[in-house]
Amino acid sequence: MAALILFGGGGDLAMRMLLPSLYFLEHDGLLPEGLKIIGAARSEESADDYIAKVHEAVKARAEADKVWDEASWSRMKARLDYLAVDATSPESLKPLKDKVGDSEITSFLAVSPSLYARIVTAMKAAGLAEKNCRIVLEKPVGRDLKSFLEIDDAVAHAFSENQVFRIDHYLGKETVQNLIALRFGNTIFEPLWNNLSIDHVQITIGETVGVGDRWPYYDEYGALRDMLQNHMLQLLCLVAMEPPSDLDPDSVRNEKVKVLRSLRPVTVDEVERVTVRGQYVAGVSEGKPAKGYDEERGQPSDTETFVAVRADIDNWRWAGVPFFMRTGKRLPEKRTEIVIQFKPVPHSIFDRDDRGEVQANRMIIELQPEEDISLTVMNKRPGLDQRMQLQPIKMSLSWGVDGKSAAPPRRRIAYERLLLDAMAGDSTLFVRRDEAEQAWKWVDEVSEAWAESGLKPDDYVAGTWGPESADMLMARTGRDWNTTDV
Ligand code: BG6
Repeated sequence: MAALILFGGGGDLAMRMLLPSLYFLEHDGLLPEGLKIIGAARSEESADDYIAKVHEAVKARAEADKVWDEASWSRMKARLDYLAVDATSPESLKPLKDKVGDSEITSFLAVSPSLYARIVTAMKAAGLAEKNCRIVLEKPVGRDLKSFLEIDDAVAHAFSENQVFRIDHYLGKETVQNLIALRFGNTIFEPLWNNLSIDHVQITIGETVGVGDRWPYYDEYGALRDMLQNHMLQLLCLVAMEPPSDLDPDSVRNEKVKVLRSLRPVTVDEVERVTVRGQYVAGVSEGKPAKGYDEERGQPSDTETFVAVRADIDNWRWAGVPFFMRTGKRLPEKRTEIVIQFKPVPHSIFDRDDRGEVQANRMIIELQPEEDISLTVMNKRPGLDQRMQLQPIKMSLSWGVDGKSAAPPRRRIAYERLLLDAMAGDSTLFVRRDEAEQAWKWVDEVSEAWAESGLKPDDYVAGTWGPESADMLMARTGRDWNTTDV
């Protein structure tokens, strides 16, 4: 038998993401046989009441995705259980341990990270950190290198590294994994994947949502720690890493760590040239009036809701190829993309067309709103023009492009893949301790340089692509952010 314990099982993450993911896996027959799913949280409620709440949350999500069926729910319901616990107390965890016995136990901490250290210590004392146990940790683990190490040391005291699964949900996204397939499953891209052919890389994670009620958390972290330290650096690593020798967790993660180690530190002298902080002020978002961050928070704050950074990777492959990253709340679109901008042809033999010069090839790896990988190439404009004219066309690797799949497969929640992998003990798509450490080290340097230089966020109007200084960051190097999907 196997058991999945969801600490914080009644909370937002569990109800919005984890339990719907488990339902989808159940629906597709992918959950391990005999798996028990146990919600564990402080609230004193019966298993029946808990299951009724899960039913409501899961049904709403599954109906929206048009995959609700009663038979799958009955199977999932039979697995569900609930126990009221104080997870920081070994005594209180004992009944939980009695319930799961000696089965393979995966515990997911969907609780405030400030409790992680106390919870893992209690778990060890209660026998929930034995060899047959694994632990899954949601971000953020710490808010800088020091606090990360404090928490992680407590985790390391209870669990060995191969039992620890640090989640970055971006790694569970289908297109992120497809990037690995694209780079290392084809011969045509890898010879071009370096500073001889690539001019620069852009990574954008745009969100239309504001911070809203999450401000007590967000105010302490800001966009740098909430998004750049983890999701953006992970995407950067997957674009920049060397080919691993195989897909073993350590082979892949060794390569990612090497990239993080090669990131050029951001110094006080450089910080204003290579980073931008922004904060949204009142504007219009998705057609509706949107408050400024300060108004949501109730008082002025220096927390950035937007960050843009030019990162340089000091190694042979990427010397001279800047990686531009930007992310923010209250931007015009929910859009996540990686743009690989190739160098222009060295000499153009064609006339200028009405779209300007021959455009350099560009690969766009789009994660949101659609999942797609596309390549822009120049093509002859059809017709009898006396002088040949070119036009860019987009070749897309979208789902079903072969014409065989009638409808694209359902877009999975990133947690579906990650929950399955954690329960199977496969940590390839999870963050190793030294990866997190290196990422914090680099981010700490940025935040220290901000503090030392006194760099404050520039205002941007809600519903726009961040402050003007973010465009300047690119413009200074003669480049600009991608604004089209061609
Ligand atoms: C989370 C951040 O990790 O990722 C949120 O804490 C952010 O602030 C979210 O909104 C974005 O995830 P996704 O998958 O919607 O792009």
